[in-house]
Amino acid sequence: MDRMIIHGGAPLCGTVDLSGSKNAALPIMMAAVLTDEPLIIRNVPRLRDVSTAMELLAGLGVATRWTGDHDVELHARVLTSHEAPYELVKTMRASFVALGPLLARSGRARVSTPGGCAIGARPVNLHIAGIRALGARIQMRNGYVEAHAGALSGARIWLDNPSVGATENILMAAVRARGRSVIENAAREPEVQNLAGLLNAMGAKIEGAGTHVIEIEGVDRLHGADYRVIPDRIEAGSLMVAAAITGGDLTIGGAPVAELAAVIIKLREAGAEITPLEGGLRITRSGPLRPVELRTLPHPGFPTDLQAQMMALLTQAAGTSVITETIFENRFMHAQELMRMGADIVMKGSTAVVRGPTRLSGAPVMATDLRASMSLILAGLVADNTTEVSRVYHLDRGYEALDRKLSSVGARIERVAD
Ligand code: UD1
Repeated sequence: MDRMIIHGGAPLCGTVDLSGSKNAALPIMMAAVLTDEPLIIRNVPRLRDVSTAMELLAGLGVATRWTGDHDVELHARVLTSHEAPYELVKTMRASFVALGPLLARSGRARVSTPGGCAIGARPVNLHIAGIRALGARIQMRNGYVEAHAGALSGARIWLDNPSVGATENILMAAVRARGRSVIENAAREPEVQNLAGLLNAMGAKIEGAGTHVIEIEGVDRLHGADYRVIPDRIEAGSLMVAAAITGGDLTIGGAPVAELAAVIIKLREAGAEITPLEGGLRITRSGPLRPVELRTLPHPGFPTDLQAQMMALLTQAAGTSVITETIFENRFMHAQELMRMGADIVMKGSTAVVRGPTRLSGAPVMATDLRASMSLILAGLVADNTTEVSRVYHLDRGYEALDRKLSSVGARIERVAD
């Protein structure tokens, strides 16, 4: 297994371009199941999760091929299977969104339940309740969700909380249901909007994506489309933190300024200067870092996927910061590793109190998930000596060419094979 070796101390300066959004690309790829015509998807990041999604689709009988560096063609002329197996779903929870499109296309689906994960229990009850409301018969058997439906019918669905995955799954089933569906308390994340944009480009009739109420008028048939994945706002936020923590000056091409509003506010509070540019933004930091209070919230609130990176940053701020995680119940695993590097962090329930600035010292560290791994890389960028981050496969799931991108702007980072 590879490791990342980071020699801290270099400010990151220069220009770096974002890849396509992982969390948008994955459900968009699953939408290929909804039509017998080819779907061309552009700006797809080269990530392990994307390869897993392609493997899953291939197992369903979908012809998958890269037609360019970041372009994929998916063609589900006929489906030869309706099953998303445990072996794939356990490595990538996002596979569970295959349920809605499989059911809509072939009237049946057998999808492994994902189980818990490092950051929390992450149940799928809202996905199931929504799909059931559309008329599917659902049974849980042998660790799988088995769903059947002669025909799906439109329904009014209220989500107890605005789950991103449940909104996407229900949306992909409702587009082919008979009649009108309404998803209330829907997730407002930009990735949901990107998916709805694709579905509309395929002939669906969806209104309200990006708001709490999404209305869907079912259609009989969806056709192929040529569609672009949005830039990755979480990669943008991670790079912004990299500039802020190192006292650098980065121009981030493709950064979606509007979608990053909460992140920009918090980074400015922490002492970064951020200038929106045509097609991106510039972030610099020359003064000292200041402490902040932040709570993770569903979009447009501060994203939970940037909480770990902010924690690394706040170890360098002069004073006491308070971070409250409201989305996942166990998402402070990175704190222990940051403390091994010298951070002063006290956790109580869903709150972490970070006192700074602390001098971080390089150490061998590892993380249990993708964003936690990124927070350790960020800490390594300012730590004394050398930091070795193991379990790099977490980073490969969600950051494209991270070592190459960071070293192109001055980081001293290298990837070594064990
Ligand atoms: C997506 C993102 C993930 C991000 C998360 C929150 C993808 C592939 N992943 O994950 O990176 O951290 O949104 O922004 O897009 N919940 C239930 N029942 C359900 C579904 C969810 O209780 O049926 C709970 C979860 O346990 C969690 C909260 O709802 O506490 C939010 O989860 P959700 O929005 O569904 O996250 P994901 O779609 O899994």
